[in-house]
Amino acid sequence: MDIKLLDAEATPAERAAVDARIGAPMASWDGALARNSRELHVAFGGKSQRDRRHLLLPALQALQERVGWISEGGFNYVCERLTVPPADAWGVATFYMMLSTQPRPRRVLHVCDDIACRAKGAKRLCDDLRAQHGGPLPHGIGKGDGHANAPAMSPHAMARKDAQGRIIIDDSHGAWTTSPCLGLCDVAPAALYIEAGATPIERSVGSVDAEFAMGLLGGGAEPDDVLVNVGAPMEPQATRSTQAKFDTVTGCLGEPRLLKRIGTVDPTSITDYQMGDGYEALAKAFELGPEGVIAELNAAKLLGRGGAAFPTGRKWDAVRQQESTPKYIICNADESEPGTFKDRVLLTGDPFAIIEAMTIGAFAAGCTRGYVYIRGEYPLGARRLQGAIEQARKTGLLGKSVMKRAGFDFDIEIRRGAGAYICGEETAIFESIEGRRGEPRNKPPFPVQHGLFGKPTIVNNVETLVNVLPIILGGGAAAARIGTAQSAGTRLFCLSGHVARPGVYEVPMGTTLGQLIELAGGVAGSGKLQCALLGGAAGAFVRPDEMDLKLTHEDTRAAGVTLGSGVVVAFDDTVDMHDVLLRITQFFRDESCGQCVPCRVGTVRQQESLHRIVTKQPIGSVKDELALLGEIGAAMKDGSICGLGQTAYAAVESAIKRLNLYPA
Ligand SMILES: Cc1cc2nc3c(=O)[nH]c(=O)nc-3n(C[C@H](O)[C@H](O)[C@H](O)COP(=O)(O)O)c2cc1C
Ligand code: SF4
Ligand code: FES
Repeated sequence: MDIKLLDAEATPAERAAVDARIGAPMASWDGALARNSRELHVAFGGKSQRDRRHLLLPALQALQERVGWISEGGFNYVCERLTVPPADAWGVATFYMMLSTQPRPRRVLHVCDDIACRAKGAKRLCDDLRAQHGGPLPHGIGKGDGHANAPAMSPHAMARKDAQGRIIIDDSHGAWTTSPCLGLCDVAPAALYIEAGATPIERSVGSVDAEFAMGLLGGGAEPDDVLVNVGAPMEPQATRSTQAKFDTVTGCLGEPRLLKRIGTVDPTSITDYQMGDGYEALAKAFELGPEGVIAELNAAKLLGRGGAAFPTGRKWDAVRQQESTPKYIICNADESEPGTFKDRVLLTGDPFAIIEAMTIGAFAAGCTRGYVYIRGEYPLGARRLQGAIEQARKTGLLGKSVMKRAGFDFDIEIRRGAGAYICGEETAIFESIEGRRGEPRNKPPFPVQHGLFGKPTIVNNVETLVNVLPIILGGGAAAARIGTAQSAGTRLFCLSGHVARPGVYEVPMGTTLGQLIELAGGVAGSGKLQCALLGGAAGAFVRPDEMDLKLTHEDTRAAGVTLGSGVVVAFDDTVDMHDVLLRITQFFRDESCGQCVPCRVGTVRQQESLHRIVTKQPIGSVKDELALLGEIGAAMKDGSICGLGQTAYAAVESAIKRLNLYPA
């Protein structure tokens, strides 16, 4: 042990929580309370200990879940256990919004104040909470929630020190904090309730009002998990997805392909999954062989659904051809683009499909290990997946000789994110799993050559993976006949904001935006559409006169907008779009990882400029500010390492050019 630790000591509860997550210490130098006889005679374990760095985030999460924050003593213990210098680990602990290095009460309500929830009264909810409870907890170290007048910390979150200098927190009341999109836009205004303890509680709550929120903070209300019944056989109404009879749109198709099990098959039972056509695709993949599987994906023209639209077959083939081993497959379930919740519906409603598709990918490309990187704000999704993985292992569908196929060993591990949008970027996922700050890597080298732990890695979005099953079962050529020549297949869209029936809808590519909104019951609120945000915060606004826009890659590209992650947030004519734009720019400012200058500085300057325009205090004229915004946008687009900086100006640009929101 050659790192300099702090003096602070972990409590027994903190030690137990960390040990339960990463295993017990092997010697006194990595945290055991007493020396053992072996370490008196031999030096051992240094190399293997350093190889455990990838457990840093899970260990920090264990502390957060046990006591509600990461104390100096708990933090010190994690550094000792994993031989990570405290200064290095501090960079990780302070990177993630769901981890707190400041004292906090055990109960915290994360209230979404992002775009779709704003359209459904989130701002009023936050104002009511400020008035009745006190201001929200700050994000990170010393950062506020953007409200100049809010107190730095809720009065109920006050902590004091006892005679021994230990921090004592008043736990009689909970605290609240604002949050970017929680992936619950269909039940807006939404919140995530987290209660730390020996058995931590994490619940997604929807249609939240101040009275219910106050009840939760006071410990007097039960946090219902609004999602728990999504996908359960008896409760299909919890999501609108099953109402997506897209034959009414095109007349060419009757049944959903990706949502077919949602609400009809029990997501907690592998038997139910197998009673349908579950695991038939894997059996067929074995018959086709790796090249045959990839040929079907190419014939289906399957493009990634995570935003970049890269051909999935080419990606799998590139990994298959690498000689370096081991190879990995990662399911990207980070889904943090504001307005996006389609992957959540699949994760909670059809977890076995994701596991089966990952297994097919592993078979085709020669991967031996899979990871599902799921955002920390999806507790039910993580529980359902964990349950599904355990059942698959018991049934011989994960582990050694999967489905009795000699020589094909494959298993999956879940890694939970901790509140960082950037960790959805594929190389940031690698950094996060490896126990570092989630900062994207430069490309090349590309993940297919040099990915997780420096090895060939497939990264695929949840929806992309679920597409694999009907393609293998029905054939790639048949799948390619759905949609258009350049945009094949069906696509999941997340409808929220002012539509009558928010939810996830599956439609063939080529369906028009107007048809999609009609499918969701039409425009709600005032009934008059002001605009819709297509593709998420990194997307663009479309006007009411553009409802004939066909939802394909080629049509959206020609119109200067994007499909992105399938977001459609509708805004009626009562919504203050300046406020929405300010929230979007705040989002990028908060979520920039800060690694490269154009994005780190540009996202702040962009928000400041927009703020000056909205508060009628432009430097020079509004025209000057718009010119400045254009320059900042160009610098971010051209000079940023990753897609976050490259798209941070997209929504603002479309508001200026397509909505004429800021007439000069
Ligand atoms: C800032 C940022 C966030 C991203 N977030 C996600 C995400 O949450 N889920 C996702 O699948 N892809 C996300 N992506 C895209 C991934 O980098 C990657 O392209 C995708 O996971 C590849 O899977 P696919 O080929 O199946 O689309 C993000 C990209 C950027 C730049
Ligand atoms: S563009 Fe922004 S988010 Fe991406 S690496 Fe650079 S600073 Fe980080
Ligand atoms: S959950 Fe609030 S905007 Fe998505």
